[in-house]
Amino acid sequence: EPEIITDKNQMRKWSRAMRSRGKTVGLVPTMGFLHDGHLSLIREAHGHTDLVVVSIYVNPGQFSPSEDLSTYPSDFDGDIQKLRAVPGGVDVVFHPHNLYDYGTTNNPSVNNVNEERDVGVVSCLEQGGGLGHETWVKVERLEKGMCGKSRPVFFRGVATVVTKLFNVVDPDVALFGKKDYQQLRIVQKMVRDLDFAIEVIGSEIVRESDGLAMSSRNVRLSPDEREQAASISRSLSRAKIAAEKGRVNCRELRDSVVKAIEEAGGRVDYAEIVEQESLVAVEEITSPVVFCVAAWFGKVRLVDNMEINM
Ligand code: PAJ
Repeated sequence: EPEIITDKNQMRKWSRAMRSRGKTVGLVPTMGFLHDGHLSLIREAHGHTDLVVVSIYVNPGQFSPSEDLSTYPSDFDGDIQKLRAVPGGVDVVFHPHNLYDYGTTNNPSVNNVNEERDVGVVSCLEQGGGLGHETWVKVERLEKGMCGKSRPVFFRGVATVVTKLFNVVDPDVALFGKKDYQQLRIVQKMVRDLDFAIEVIGSEIVRESDGLAMSSRNVRLSPDEREQAASISRSLSRAKIAAEKGRVNCRELRDSVVKAIEEAGGRVDYAEIVEQESLVAVEEITSPVVFCVAAWFGKVRLVDNMEINM
C-alpha cells in the first residue's frame, strides 16, 4: 500500500530518513491519469533503486492560459488502484495540493509581479493573486524549437517544476519517457548544467495495439479522431523503415509524414528530424536522429517520435 504524502516538508523528511538508512530513491514525475506508459516507468525504476516515489501533480506553471489545464483529465482514486497493481508497488505517492503556495500579501503591486509581461509567455500560475512565483529554470537553446515554438511557457514550466520536485524528493534516479523526447533532453541538460546529483533515465515509448503512443490526453479524442491519430505512428514507422533502407533525404521523409497525417484528418504542428542529443535539425540522416511530430486531432494535440539509429 503506497504512503500518500501531500506536504512538501513531510516528503523531505521521508526522503532524508530513507537515505540515512542507506536506501536509494527513484522518482517518476507524472501529472496523473496514469496509463501503461507511466506504469512502465515505475517498473523500470525498481531495477535502479530500493524505493520508488511517484509524484502526481498537474503543474499550472507549464500551461498557458489558452491551454487545457482546466480540462486536463484526473482520477486520483483510479491512479492509486493502478499503482497497487504494479509489480513491486510504489513506496510513496507525492500528491501536493499546490507546489507554489508561498502565502499572500495585501499589497496589490506585489501580487501582480507579471502584469506587464507579454501574454505569450505567461502561464496559468501567473494569473491572479498570491505571492507570485518569480524564479524560472530555462534551458535556453533546447527549449526554443519544436514544442517550444507553439508552447512558449511549457518547457520553462517543466524545468522549474522538475527542479522543485528534485529538491523536495531528493532522488538518486529520475525516470522520464521518450514519448516526450524534447522534455527528456531538456531535463538531462538541466541536470548536467546545474550539477544535480541525479541520474536521469529515458524509458521507451509504450503504445496502443494500433501504434498510438499512450497519453493521458488520448481519452479526449472522439472515436473518429482516435482512429485518425494512428496515422502519426503509422507514418513515422514507414519513414523509419525507409530511412534505414537508405532513403535519407529528410525533406522527402518529412513531406511523406505530413501528407499521411493530413490525409487522415490531422493538422501537423511540426515534423522535424533532429540529432538525438542536441535536437539540431538535419538535412540528411548520417548519424543517430529522432523524427519528432506534433499534430492536432480536433482539440487534442498529440506528440510522438521515433529514433532512427544509423
Ligand atoms: P505526464 O504527461 O503525466 O508524463 C509523465 C511521464 O510519463 C513523462 O516522463 C512522460 O514522458 C512519460 N510517458 C507518458 N506517456 C508515455 C508513453 N506512452 N510511454 C512512455 N512514457 C510515457 O510529462 C509530464 O507528465 C510532465 O511534463 C512532468 C514531467 C510530470 C512535469 O510536470
